[in-house]
Amino acid sequence: MQYIGAIDQGTTSTRFLIFDQQGKLVTSHQVEFEQSCQKPGWIEHDPYDLLDSAIKCADEAMRKFEWMGNDPRDVKAIGIANQRETTLVWDNRTGEPLHNAIVWGDTRTNKLVKRFAKKPDAEIIQRLCGLPLHNYFSALKIRWLMDNVEKVKTAFDKEKAMFGTVDSWLVWNLTGGVQSGVHVTDVTNASRTMLMNIETRQWDPQLLDFFDIPASILPRIVSSSEVYGKVKWGPLEGLPISGCLGDQQAALVGQKCFSVGEVKNTYGTGAFLLFNVGHKPVFSTHGLLSTVAYQFGPDKSPVYALEGSVSVAGGAVRWLKDNMGIIEESSDINVLASKVEDTGGVQFIPAFSGLFAPYWRDDARGVLVGLTQYTNKYHLSRAVLEAACFSTRAILDAMKNDGNLPLKVLKADGGMSNSDVCMQIQADVLGITVERPAMNETTALGAAYAAGLAIGVWKDTDAIQKLTVDTKDTFQPKWKTDEREKRYAMWEAAIERSYGWTD
Ligand code: G3P
Repeated sequence: MQYIGAIDQGTTSTRFLIFDQQGKLVTSHQVEFEQSCQKPGWIEHDPYDLLDSAIKCADEAMRKFEWMGNDPRDVKAIGIANQRETTLVWDNRTGEPLHNAIVWGDTRTNKLVKRFAKKPDAEIIQRLCGLPLHNYFSALKIRWLMDNVEKVKTAFDKEKAMFGTVDSWLVWNLTGGVQSGVHVTDVTNASRTMLMNIETRQWDPQLLDFFDIPASILPRIVSSSEVYGKVKWGPLEGLPISGCLGDQQAALVGQKCFSVGEVKNTYGTGAFLLFNVGHKPVFSTHGLLSTVAYQFGPDKSPVYALEGSVSVAGGAVRWLKDNMGIIEESSDINVLASKVEDTGGVQFIPAFSGLFAPYWRDDARGVLVGLTQYTNKYHLSRAVLEAACFSTRAILDAMKNDGNLPLKVLKADGGMSNSDVCMQIQADVLGITVERPAMNETTALGAAYAAGLAIGVWKDTDAIQKLTVDTKDTFQPKWKTDEREKRYAMWEAAIERSYGWTD
């Protein structure tokens, strides 16, 4: 039996998981790390936390693997799935980060967005990179670092700076850093920077010029499945790193959405719905993103996806726990939400730092409407779950309006999908079946598939498709159509009220 390891470096935690050749999870380890929020709207990660947590998780998981009676030498390769867009800059001679990582949900570049939107060529940007001009993506985060951090400025002037998203940072360090580090990024991660041309899949001179970012700091774009290098130190020493995907694309692969028209939705900190559109990018006119889904090998044709990104889903559950103190553990939300049949007319829009797809409103902020004397924490808990489900409906409506066929089944995964209450609400809100795999670690599994494909553990995606199918839970819609539409209309009315709360 051969095994594949996967680093899943997410927004709030890191994991290392080991899968067997059947795609079955053997063991794993998870570590949470600190979110640094020094100002409203700012979110940073310590780059060493990201690296150290990956090493710690790998160490623990490999140890557990051995205790279970397995031979660590049977782990043949590792893959990486990572939080996307999060931006790091480090010194190419010392390997030291020049600043904390600016996390994808950080809104400090809002003013820069406005400034760049006034540039004459701003309108062609989306056609080139598939993304709207927004604080979410990496380009303006790099720009902010270059303009505001003295150390970064100096390093740029002296050509000592290196840029990378989290995948690049991990691969560079694991493959030997200043000694022998390989500076690469996979094409799915590159497609989230706003600097890659979505059709040629190369850094685009026009985009670099638009953002005034030098090409010399950028990693080499590679496919999602090939040997990038070998780990040079630590518990994974000697193993090839042979797969890499942005975490949302990894979940698409982990859910085996290899055919055009297949869709998955991952409910993590945010919620990210990806729709496989085949070998050519599709450009949305209804607020969705064009992105690379995967490319399994340097000579293979890439597969693209349309994406609907929701900035806050599980993040609102965490807010109920950490900020409001209404629940002690995230899973408590199910108990509270199931005590009531509905929200008692309450709508909650968790636009904590604006709204992503399909609205793209930086000026939106969270609102809670419809409160009465009768409202209690049970209604609020249910409204938090409903918010993720209505946000998903908005994305699916945008996909339909873009001309894609209506969905029959939604494949769900991610932490929040563990909630039966939430998945039932999702089926009710959409009016279609929701399917949740029993093995919910689809993100890491996708990275493991990519890594295994590169070294021949699986011949191709057909071989992966044929692996034992895990059991699934399914949720069928119960609401009647008029009830569904009435409730969605209330959501849309509440969305309108979230607009215009910032300058
Ligand atoms: O685009 C951001 C996304 O990659 C974050 O995913 O699972 O870390 O919330 P997650």
